[in-house]
Formats: sequence, structure tokens, C-alpha cells
Amino acid sequence: MLRSLLLVLSRQPWLRHWLETSPAAERLTSRFIAGSSIEREVVVCQRLNADGYLATLDHLGESVTSLEEAERSREAYLAALDQIAKLNLEATVSVKLTQLGLDFSEAACLANVECLVARAKSMGRMVEIDMESSPYVDRTLALVSNLHARYGSVRAVIQAYLYRSESDVQNLCGQSIPIRLCKGAYRESADVAFPRKKDVDANYVRLMFELFDRGTYPAIASHDEKILDRALGYVRERNIAADRFEFQMLYGVGRDLQRRLLAAGYRLRLYVPYGNAWYPYFMRRLAERPANVVFLARNLLKN
Ligand code: FDA
Repeated sequence: MLRSLLLVLSRQPWLRHWLETSPAAERLTSRFIAGSSIEREVVVCQRLNADGYLATLDHLGESVTSLEEAERSREAYLAALDQIAKLNLEATVSVKLTQLGLDFSEAACLANVECLVARAKSMGRMVEIDMESSPYVDRTLALVSNLHARYGSVRAVIQAYLYRSESDVQNLCGQSIPIRLCKGAYRESADVAFPRKKDVDANYVRLMFELFDRGTYPAIASHDEKILDRALGYVRERNIAADRFEFQMLYGVGRDLQRRLLAAGYRLRLYVPYGNAWYPYFMRRLAERPANVVFLARNLLKN
């Protein structure tokens, strides 16, 4: 219901205009998005690093409409890697393959990502390959395996809502490929994904334990307190050192939880989006939490 409402709202030009221009809206958007430029992104990441957080930079923009646009995305990421090197940021970059041309040419997409991975490797950093909807999973994992075998310096993402993920985790662990484990953010059918949240959560915990036991530097990406408690319990019980894994969360989401994990001495990487195409990302963040929508509505009424 809320999601459908937001979908309708996300198509309203007046709302977009208000969000892009109003100072009240900026207070809300800046909680989740660093800004539209790499300069703003870098300032946020420097502040996060100074506070003890690691970062991953996400240049917003999915599903480009031409290979030229994909090349522009690659250039934006190269510029981001340059900034990471220049300022010695404790940061990786997170990319979506559709943004780097996967829908047009697998070969061109591979060449674009390879360029980023080679640069990241030369600076001792990593490229994290976000996972998109289920039709992309095979191609995404094949590309990750290919680049990992030649460079290292890549991390795969596994979505706990997919039935196939248990076997994908085993496969990737067999190749010592680092994994970010998340629940999964796309609308998937019951043919490929657990329809019930309860089953997704149970699968998440199963895969998380598997990664703690057999994974290479796993990244536990969640804001779910119950899941994070299970993770902390497991880590203590098995004496897993805090530098053998990391937690990951979205910038601006679950900030109390973020502070608590950091204070307890754990590594926490924040996924920090920036760029002109921030609008769909922002609407998705709103859809995940009713309180954000109330905040938005209150400010809209004031203006
Ligand atoms: P869950 O949805 O159960 O939420 C747990 C708690 O967090 C709830 O109390 C909820 O209210 C709160 N919460 C969640 N979102 C919130 C928000 N926007 N504002 C306030 N509170 C919020 N997905 C994907 O398909 N491919 C990918 O590559 C990635 N990559 C990725 C990286 C990182 C670092 C993270 C943290 C997440 C992703 N995801 C992703 C998204 C992921 O699949 C999932 O949709 C969200 O993280 C929400 O799931 P949680 O595990 O947080 O649990």
C-alpha cells in the first residue's frame, strides 16, 4: 500500500521539483544522499572516516540507455577512485553492472568494470559489484569470478531472499571471493525467492553463519537488529576476531545502531550514494520506513 503510494508520488514532477529545490527537503535528502557531486561525496566520506567508519561510494544511476552513458558512468567511477587515492580514503566503490552497460554488451561491460578493478587494485582498494534483479545474477557472478581470478580486488553480493543463494555462497567461498550478504531489494516472484520475510530472515542467518565459518572476509549488510544480535553472538561464541569481517549499512539508516557497532569496536562500512540520479534511490529509502514519509508529508504541508 505504502509502496504503491510512493510509486505514484515518485512520478509527480511537482514533488521532484520540491525535493530538488526546497531547503526543508534538503534536510531530508541529505540524510541519505551525500549530494549530487563527487566533491560533496568526498567531504561526507572524509567525515565518516574521521569518525571511524569505512565507506563505499555509490555513483547513483541504474540502467543506462546507451554504451556511451555506460562509459560516462565508468569515468565517474574512475574520478571517484582518483579521489579515494588522492585523499587516502578508507573506501571502496560499489557499482551496478546495468550502469556499466550489461544490457547492451557483456564484453563492453566487462571492459568497463575491468578498468575500475585494475585501478582499484593498483591503489589497494576494491570494487564491490552490487547485485540487481534475478535475471542478472548468473551474468553478474560470472563477471565477478572472471575478474577475481585475474585481479582479486572484487566483492560479490548475495541476496538471502533467493533460493539459489545457498549454492552461490558455496561456489563463491570455494573461489575465496569475498561476499556482501544482504536480504535483497527487488520485487521477485515466488518461483525464485522466498515470499515470506520470516523465511528470508532465516535464510540470511543460515548464510551468515556459513560465511563466518567458510567465507573470505564477509560483509554483513543489514540494519536488522535481531540479525545483528545473532551475528554478534556467533562472533563471540566462535572467537572470531573483529578484523576478519565487517558490517555494512546504508548512509543515514539505523544511525543509533551504527554508532553502537562502532563503539563496540567492529568495522562498519557505510554505503554512501551521490550523483544527479538520486531521486529513485531516495524514493526507495522512503518506501522502507513510514516515519520518513510522515516527515516528508509534514514538510510538504509547511511549504
Ligand atoms: P529489514 O528490511 O528487515 O530492516 C531492518 C530494520 O531496518 C527495520 O526496522 C527497518 O525499519 C530498518 N530500515 C530498513 N531500511 C530503512 C530505511 N530506509 N530507513 C530507516 N530504517 C530502515 N540489495 C540488493 O538487492 N542488492 C545489493 O547489492 C544491495 N546492497 C546493499 C548494500 C548495503 C551496504 C546494504 C545495507 C543493503 C544493500 N541492499 C542491497 C539492500 C538490502 O537488500 C535490503 O533491501 C535493505 O538493506 C533492508 O534490509 P535489512 O537487512 O536492513 O532488513
